[in-house]
Amino acid sequence: MAHLRLGFLASHNGSNMQAIIDACNNGILDATPCVVISNNSSSGALIRARNEGIPAYHISSKTHYDEETAIIDALLENSVDILILAGYMKIVRKRTIRFMKGKILNIHPALLPNYGGKGMYGMKVHEAVIAAKEKVSGATVHLVDTRYDHGKILNQKIIKVHPGDTPEQLEAKILQIEHILYTETLIKISNGEILL
Ligand code: GRF
Repeated sequence: MAHLRLGFLASHNGSNMQAIIDACNNGILDATPCVVISNNSSSGALIRARNEGIPAYHISSKTHYDEETAIIDALLENSVDILILAGYMKIVRKRTIRFMKGKILNIHPALLPNYGGKGMYGMKVHEAVIAAKEKVSGATVHLVDTRYDHGKILNQKIIKVHPGDTPEQLEAKILQIEHILYTETLIKISNGEILL
């Protein structure tokens, strides 16, 4: 793939999205962030997008009768090649997946296929990892299908879980590697090392 046009779906803080935007701005990643869509009107992701001058839309079932069509229209208008989920708390529908020809990525704060699926998000993931006394955890970038955290795994990074780590400490450590992993994965997609 050559120069990539990126779209984002994000529900909360958007720190992963920001790391990818920074990589685009710094020229590390040959891509343009084209549009940010959030179901949460007060999300950090929308604030970050506006600060960066990126078209930003609040689209939810409350703002739009047909939320999915509104999302697809925004992706179409902005000619998005790859849709990036960055802390998006909703399931992506079949029509959006078909429209994007499967080119939708997500990041999950654990080593999938373990500790993923419905209800496994945020602190719950790290609490489960610690409760199971895992020695390692990490982050996974995967393709999105109609099931939570289920599509093909594209890239992972592993970190050690130290005895005594709290879920909060683990979350903070993993978030740092997520930022690197997501950007790295997109660079590999852009230079053809990872094929979508
Ligand atoms: C990250 O931990 C990501 O793995 C998960 O949601 C969190 C989003 O964080 N899907 P941020 O909004 O990118 O800061």
